[in-house]
Amino acid sequence: MLKVGVLVSGGGTNLQAIIDSIKSGIITNTEIKVVISNNPNAYALTRAKENNIEGVCISPKTFEKREDFNEALINKIDEYNLDLIVLAGCMVVLPAKLISKYQNKIINIHPALIPSFCGKGFYGLHVHEEVLKRGVKLTGATVHFVDEGTDTGPIIMQRAVEVKYGDTPEVLQRRVMEEAEWKIMPQAINLIANNKISVIDGFVKIDE
Ligand code: GAR
Repeated sequence: MLKVGVLVSGGGTNLQAIIDSIKSGIITNTEIKVVISNNPNAYALTRAKENNIEGVCISPKTFEKREDFNEALINKIDEYNLDLIVLAGCMVVLPAKLISKYQNKIINIHPALIPSFCGKGFYGLHVHEEVLKRGVKLTGATVHFVDEGTDTGPIIMQRAVEVKYGDTPEVLQRRVMEEAEWKIMPQAINLIANNKISVIDGFVKIDE
């Protein structure tokens, strides 16, 4: 059984997609051990509770120093002996120590086709605003391993989504979630849970 911890900050629709995919068998061999939020009001914590999953809030605002928050986050994650950490709308910059400790064991969903519309400052709705400003016709989502850079780790899976004339950022965000994020994140977790993914020289190999 792959022991997974999910890090969230907000609504948690990607968390919900993972929970639903475990229930329906799209994801096998996987158990969510804990949901950790930096935001005490994240609806994702309610989703965890409704599904009898342990939910924990560790907010940087309750620590005097960032290092103390980092330490608390790492200690909490270590408690669960996790095989995989999933960033599902997690808006916190992770401590470098955590990233090196869990090398190739942290994955993130980004709401664009990396290497477009990614990096520092590109998160959430803002990504879709930028996509619309540039008038591109295709966007999408990317699941990737997390390394020390911002959205630079090995890409696991991507799916393209059409941008339509007249889209608002909210409409486009919803389409990207429905058509890409909620599908490729569960698929990627399932592949990892069934040992189908390896990282070779910084590139992801998927065994079909
Ligand atoms: C998702 O669109 C996710 O791709 C994005 O935040 C949203 C969270 O929604 N993540 C990033 O922008 C990370 N750079 P959710 O809380 O409903 O899953």
